[in-house]
Amino acid sequence: MITIIGAGKVGTSAAAFMMIKELDDILLIDIIENKPQGEALDLSHAASILGLSVSITGSNDFKDMAGSDIVVVTAGFPRKPGMTREELLTKNAGIIADIAEKIKEYAPNAIVLLTTNPLDAVTYVMYKKLGFPRERVIGFSGVLDAGRLAYYASKKLGVSPASITPIVLGMHGQAMFPVPRLSTVMGAPLTTLLSEEELKEITEETVKAGATVTKLRGYSSNYGPGSGLAVMVEAIKKDQHKAFIASVYLQGEYGYNDLVLEVPIILGGKGFEKIIELPLTEEEKKGLDESAQAVKNLIEKLPPEYK
Ligand code: APR
Repeated sequence: MITIIGAGKVGTSAAAFMMIKELDDILLIDIIENKPQGEALDLSHAASILGLSVSITGSNDFKDMAGSDIVVVTAGFPRKPGMTREELLTKNAGIIADIAEKIKEYAPNAIVLLTTNPLDAVTYVMYKKLGFPRERVIGFSGVLDAGRLAYYASKKLGVSPASITPIVLGMHGQAMFPVPRLSTVMGAPLTTLLSEEELKEITEETVKAGATVTKLRGYSSNYGPGSGLAVMVEAIKKDQHKAFIASVYLQGEYGYNDLVLEVPIILGGKGFEKIIELPLTEEEKKGLDESAQAVKNLIEKLPPEYK
C-alpha cells in the first residue's frame, strides 16, 4: 500500500497519477476531518469511470498506514506572502518531526518520499528524526526542477523533452543550480546546441518556474510534483533502477557531509541504490558550493531538537 500524508493539492494530484498508473492501493491521510475521505471518494469515482483496479481510501488516523511500503509526505504549509523561508522552515519542520514519529511507529520499513518545503532542509529533519538508513529517505523536487529544465530546453530546441537528459543540482529553491553543460540530447551538451542567451533564458525560467506558476494562478504547483512523485513511486514499486535527481543525505559525495542536496540517484525497490557524482568544472563546483551554502544556512537555523 502507498500512504500519502497530506491530502492537499500535491497529495491528491500524486494520488491521481499513481491511480492512473495502477501502482498499488492508496491511502490518503490528513488532519482535517473528512477531507481525505472526500478526496478518496472522488478519486474512487474516477477510478471506476476509468476502469482501474485500485482501492483509494482516506483517513484521519495515522494507524491506518500500518504495513505501507511507501509513505509520501506532502503535508505542510506553502509560503505565504511576507513569510520568510526560516519561518516556513520552523513551522514545517515541526509538522515533519511529528509525522516522522508516526511513520517510525506504524510503517518502520517504508521508503519515505517528501515534498514539504523548504525541501532540502525538511528532508534533513525527516532523515534525522526517522533514523532510517539514508537510502529510504528521499526528498522529491529534483525531478520537478529537471523536468522544468527539459521543458524549457525542448521549446528552444524543437526536441521532445523525453529526449533531453536535464541536470539540476543543489538546493530546491532560488539557489538551485541547473547545469546546461551536463544536460544533453543524445550526448550533445545543451551548451553546444543553444546560444549563451538561450541558455541564460532557460536556466532563469527553470529557477523561477515555481514562482511563475504561483503568480499566474494564485497557488503553487501540484501537477508537476504529483506526476514526479508517481514516476518515482513507480520506479520503487517496479524495482526499475531508474535515474532521477533527488534530495538525499550526503556522506562525502560532491565533497559535502551532513547535508541534503539535489543530486542524481539510481532508484529501485529498496530506495536509492547509488549517488552519481558528475564531473564538474571548477566554476560549476563553485556554483554548487553556493547552492549548498544556502541549504547549510537553513539547516543552521533549525532549532536543535530537529537536528
Ligand atoms: N498531518 C497530516 N496532514 C497535514 C498535517 C499533518 N501534521 N499538517 C498539515 N497537513 C495537511 C493540510 O491539512 C493540507 O490538507 O497538508 C495538506 C497540505 O495541502 P495544501 O495546503 O494544498 O498544500 P500543497 O500545495 O499540497 O503543498 C504541500 O508540498 O510542495 C510542497 O510547498 C509545498 O510544503 C508544501 C507541501
